[in-house]
Amino acid sequence: MWCASPVRTTEPLPERHDIRDADDVRTLVARFYASVTQDAQIGHFFTHLDLSAHLPKIEAFWRMVLFGDRSYQGDPMAVHISLDQRHRMETAHFERWLGAWEASIDELFAGPRADMAKARARAIAPLMMHKVKQARDS
Ligand code: HEM
Repeated sequence: MWCASPVRTTEPLPERHDIRDADDVRTLVARFYASVTQDAQIGHFFTHLDLSAHLPKIEAFWRMVLFGDRSYQGDPMAVHISLDQRHRMETAHFERWLGAWEASIDELFAGPRADMAKARARAIAPLMMHKVKQARDS
């Protein structure tokens, strides 16, 4: 059974609204990356990245998931299969990633789209882990 491993952040702000637009996605992604890039368990996955090139891709991905925006053109499964060859990815890493994603959302936003952002990540993460393992074994 998959569970998001808890990541402590600051206390939630008192008035949180839902994820409404591209600016909110940018805010969320920035918060999430501030957390994961410093994380003791998964921070090492991100050290090679030029965030100024990477973050716009992540924002476009989440705009696609949450708003149906079509600007994202990547292949996340292939990217993580290749990432796994650089740093082996394990279920515990995905759980940590999910914990940080959910903590970032909960810190900043609340509402149906915030719930959707958590649910979609929870659905994609095990699938991604499965594809990574499958590629490793083939
Ligand atoms: C252990 C969990 C994860 C880690 C450590 C991780 C880390 C990374 C890193 C380092 C990259 C950049 C790779 C590169 O360009 O060299 C990346 C790309 C990306 N990740 Fe993850 N990731 C994880 C899980 C996920 C999950 C669960 C999702 C989706 C829900 C996701 C969505 C993406 C997307 C959309 C990209 C951009 C792919 C592209 O270049 O088009 N990641 N991730």
